[in-house]
Amino acid sequence: MDHELEHQLYAEEMNTKKINLAEKFSRIHEHWRPKVVGELNGQEVKLVKFKGEFVWHHHEKEDELFLCIKGRMSVEFKNYRVDLHAGEFVIVPKATEHRTLADEEAEVLIFEPASTKNTGNVTHESLTAPNGVKL
Ligand code: NI
Repeated sequence: MDHELEHQLYAEEMNTKKINLAEKFSRIHEHWRPKVVGELNGQEVKLVKFKGEFVWHHHEKEDELFLCIKGRMSVEFKNYRVDLHAGEFVIVPKATEHRTLADEEAEVLIFEPASTKNTGNVTHESLTAPNGVKL
């Protein structure tokens, strides 16, 4: 077995394989449907493309982090909104009503507990996405 392949297989087994965000995002072709690219300590690292307006919701028990990787996105709260450029993040505290927005397509990394439903307390016909979908 060649050395490169041997290293790669070992890295996969050890869960130390590096993740390239651009490569992962190139394989996402839909909006608002998070894909799991990493797991640690009961939390998940998810990648998602945003475009348009999401539904208002909150999460009873989970804080969620949104890190803008490419483009621009906003998180709107009841009385104000946070605008994020690439390289900026915000944490939405549990039980806080919010929705996400992006005029143009944005690439976003989410870090939150594995159990977190994307639409929180709301079930939405097209926006509620299944959990645990790996990329
Ligand atoms: Ni949320």
